[in-house]
Amino acid sequence: MEAFAIKSVKAREILDSRGNPTVEAEALTNGGFGRASVPSGASTGTYEAVELRDGGERFNGKGVLCACRNVNEIIAPALVGMDSRSMASIDGKMIELDGTENKSKLGANAILSVSLAAAKAAADTAKLPLFMHLNQESRVLPVPMLNIINGGKHAGNSLSIQEFMVAPVGAGSIKEALRTGSEVYMALKKILKDRYGPSAINVGDEGGFAPPIPAAADAFEAILDAIGEAGYSDDDVKLAIDSAASSFYKDGKYAVDGRKMSPGDLLDYYVELANQYPIISMEDPFEEDDYANFAEITSKLCGRVQIVGDDIFVTNMKRFRKGVEMGAATSLLLKVNQIGTLTESIEVARYAVKSGYTVMVSHRSGETEDNYISDLAVALGTGQIKTGAPARGERISKYNQLIRIEETLGKRASYAGAMAFKTP
Ligand code: PGA
Ligand code: ZN
Repeated sequence: MEAFAIKSVKAREILDSRGNPTVEAEALTNGGFGRASVPSGASTGTYEAVELRDGGERFNGKGVLCACRNVNEIIAPALVGMDSRSMASIDGKMIELDGTENKSKLGANAILSVSLAAAKAAADTAKLPLFMHLNQESRVLPVPMLNIINGGKHAGNSLSIQEFMVAPVGAGSIKEALRTGSEVYMALKKILKDRYGPSAINVGDEGGFAPPIPAAADAFEAILDAIGEAGYSDDDVKLAIDSAASSFYKDGKYAVDGRKMSPGDLLDYYVELANQYPIISMEDPFEEDDYANFAEITSKLCGRVQIVGDDIFVTNMKRFRKGVEMGAATSLLLKVNQIGTLTESIEVARYAVKSGYTVMVSHRSGETEDNYISDLAVALGTGQIKTGAPARGERISKYNQLIRIEETLGKRASYAGAMAFKTP
């Protein structure tokens, strides 16, 4: 225990990929060190745990000095001496210190930075990579869901759907999957430039292109052409979307492709897309409180398309349980900063698997160079990860970590492929 005992914890304010401040924490044990930083969303769910911001003029109110102070003055003294391997006790202690339902007192950003830094310090003390420390049996490398066209709140174009992803399910390894993704991305770049002019290859928050095209169908057509151009078929590479529908919902209507749609119209629109294109996954097809229409589309597309809940579940056990009871989806999007500790995230992921759900580990649109989500996806064996395009350093950091993990696992490594999308 002596080597694993926490000696000190410290936080500082750093910048994220959008240039906004975020929290980075460091934990020191007697035998190791861990550093972790916290991401931040743009199309955030209403029910996410609270990201504490300073307000005032500094950084337009987005400073996180309060959150850092909470780590340095309240959390750190309480954790010194604790065993860094006892993730549940450390996270439990912080939840107790916070005392609120949504971590609004200390801030989910403060708490998560320490939760992650402590886990990394424990792994370092044990001289294990994080994924091995979290699960000695780790072996499954996830299918990367590469977001190659950006819309919604992540781009300055008029596409309502936020993310158009490719899933290289036919690859034999993560390394090959990323090569496929990169080749498709490069082919798409050329196609978009030819079709829509040079400004079409500007990129959005997650590294995907943000072309000035109005309708989702045009985005799918361009991507399918890119897949063919790169020498792949639609058996090798499938399509996926994240609508982030709360971001284009107002007063009972959804604004999509220049039309105002009722929930019923939107359902028909999705079914049409699923009939027309090789789509295997749809995330947040309806706004975050519409469990009923989530259930409707889940039953309509059952067995064909995975329905993923992000803003509706916010990695929160209570909201997710309700979803399971109602048959609202077939997949859980796992974002650790939506709930604020590693322990609670792992708990929801395990419950999802037990309930017959698939799990997709996810980055946020505002990220840092930290790549713990890659280790988490492998440790949980989720078989799916989304962390943006094969471009921009903060996205690539996660994909490159998967390449390293695959190499470390050697012959034990197994690429999830199409099996990752099997739903009951
Ligand atoms: P966000 O987007 O990080 O801006 O919330 C990602 C997503 O909606 O999945
Ligand atoms: Zn989402």
